[in-house]
Amino acid sequence: TRHVVIDCDPGTDDAIALWLALASPEIEVPLITVAGGNAGLASTLANARAIVGLTGQAVPVVAGADRPLLGAFRADVKVHGTDGLAGVRLPEGPAATPGLAADAIRASLRQAAPGSVTLLGIAAATNLALALASEPALADRVAEIVLMTGAVGEGNWTAGAEFNAAMDPEALAILLAAGCPMTLVTLELTAQALVTPERITALRAQGGGRCLAACCDIMEAVPPSRRLGHRGHPLHDPCALAWIVRPELFSARDVAVQVECGTGPGRGRTHIDRWGRSGTAPHARLLETLDADGFFAMLGERLARLP
Ligand code: BDR
Ligand code: CA
Repeated sequence: TRHVVIDCDPGTDDAIALWLALASPEIEVPLITVAGGNAGLASTLANARAIVGLTGQAVPVVAGADRPLLGAFRADVKVHGTDGLAGVRLPEGPAATPGLAADAIRASLRQAAPGSVTLLGIAAATNLALALASEPALADRVAEIVLMTGAVGEGNWTAGAEFNAAMDPEALAILLAAGCPMTLVTLELTAQALVTPERITALRAQGGGRCLAACCDIMEAVPPSRRLGHRGHPLHDPCALAWIVRPELFSARDVAVQVECGTGPGRGRTHIDRWGRSGTAPHARLLETLDADGFFAMLGERLARLP
């Protein structure tokens, strides 16, 4: 089994990614760390505890950054509501594990064999960047960094930038330079995982317990995407988890990536070079296509296994 440390900001789609992770037999999740993002840190931390609590599993949840490395914090209340779960209430979860995310990530890497840990980032990159920047030698423990971040084209937060990349571009730049194998899940990929009313109905029909029901309630509460023509909303973060457990659902290509850290309108924009025009050797894997029906079938089948 692969060890997957998850850094998140739940977050409607983060919630579903966490349930998918905790329902997947291929992986073990030794640690969940939390950042502010989709809502303020107090809410994202409470949500992460509640999401884990609903599964009945005991996974340490540790609080991390409440703001980016530079600049001020802003939450994405349009999609996720002020509470981060679009108004869906979950029972209070177990207490957070004391400590700080970056320390917990480093401790988890220190105990691990070389090349054995997957770092899954589905929030701004702050916590993961703080961990690796303060002890760069630990990069050798990392099998892969998988990030839901960035876009080849248009953004969803600013015209040019995707939310997670825009929240902390400097942290993303640190991760891109960490020297670890890197896989990127961008907006073009997640636009293929569209939640539609038909797909929610099919998920509910799987039966399942309180986790699948809460997943469907959350999906129903998120507004359809204007950017994608109101056809549904993209299930961003679970795609990154799906890559880890079912890579055969994807096609990919190697690319070079840079993130804009300037203060102009392009701040947080990712420049993803699919055709080798930059002259920089490819250092990341860009996921390009997703078998969406296979993805939603897997999601339903797995979440139905949870309580
Ligand atoms: C990303 O931003 C957040 O709103 C989502 O949880 C996802 O991680 C999509 O741009
Ligand atoms: Ca997220």
